[in-house]
Amino acid sequence: MYNYHCLNPIAQIGLDIFNEAYQKTDAVDNADAILVRSAAMHDMEFSTSLKAIARAGAGVNNIPLDKCAEKGIVVFNTPGANANGVKELVIAGMLLASRDVIGGIDWVKEHEADADLAKAAEKAKKAFAGTEIQGKKLGVIGLGAIGVLVANAAVHLGMDVYGYDPYVSVDSAWKLSRNIHHAKTVDEIYKECDYITIHVPALDSTKGMINRDAIQLMKENVVVLNFARDVLVDTGAMVEALEEGKVRRYVTDFPIPEIAGVKGAIVIPHLGASTEESEDNCAVMAAKELRDYLENGNITHS
Ligand code: MLT
Repeated sequence: MYNYHCLNPIAQIGLDIFNEAYQKTDAVDNADAILVRSAAMHDMEFSTSLKAIARAGAGVNNIPLDKCAEKGIVVFNTPGANANGVKELVIAGMLLASRDVIGGIDWVKEHEADADLAKAAEKAKKAFAGTEIQGKKLGVIGLGAIGVLVANAAVHLGMDVYGYDPYVSVDSAWKLSRNIHHAKTVDEIYKECDYITIHVPALDSTKGMINRDAIQLMKENVVVLNFARDVLVDTGAMVEALEEGKVRRYVTDFPIPEIAGVKGAIVIPHLGASTEESEDNCAVMAAKELRDYLENGNITHS
């Protein structure tokens, strides 16, 4: 019988797959397998019994991959399992950046005691007028599971979509709408687009890619969205660009204190994958991967 440990709460439907056969343990020391969401594992000591870690999510930058490779610990992730949840929040982010829904809701709360709230709202609403996303250019950097879904959804919303990815997989290429313009360079995205959304992993080659030079190339009043990883964007450069008004809105799913209070920033506490459906999908995929490895030695999504 194997022991497993959860470092974060993982959806019950995934645990049920495990609980049929294995023992959940409170101690990480005697675990054969760990299920984790986004808890940072870099400072953890790994026991000799640990055979595998499954990340219920796509990004594995919370896991010390080199240490795992040294110790022969197999690391799994769940690519695509939460892609729809993230896609929906990216689209919501674009809409929030274009329509002052948040300002409008705050206004109603402040004026809820007004005897004639509807009349007061009629006067106030001009201040909350926005713009539409239909007909605007959207640049999608990274055409993996999430980037493809965002790009296709934006086509359906009437946006003029540019995609950039030097390594598009065959799977992604098949799924991409034919109406997407393939940019030859990332600079083309920076120069052409009104909205830019990043969907690449955190690698040495991508960290800080949205820096002063990249922002310099962008259009005035551009909207930038980052639901991928915080380190992709140079925080200082983004704060400056928001303060100067070069970037109209920066929508990010990473709550970084330096940016949270800056005018024009919309900061979400990492909720992209926080839907019942995404959490269930990730938990099931992660639990199945671990079981298949522990019982049959099969390795998928490692
Ligand atoms: C991911 O990498 O897929 C997300 O960070 C998932 C999560 O919110 O745990």
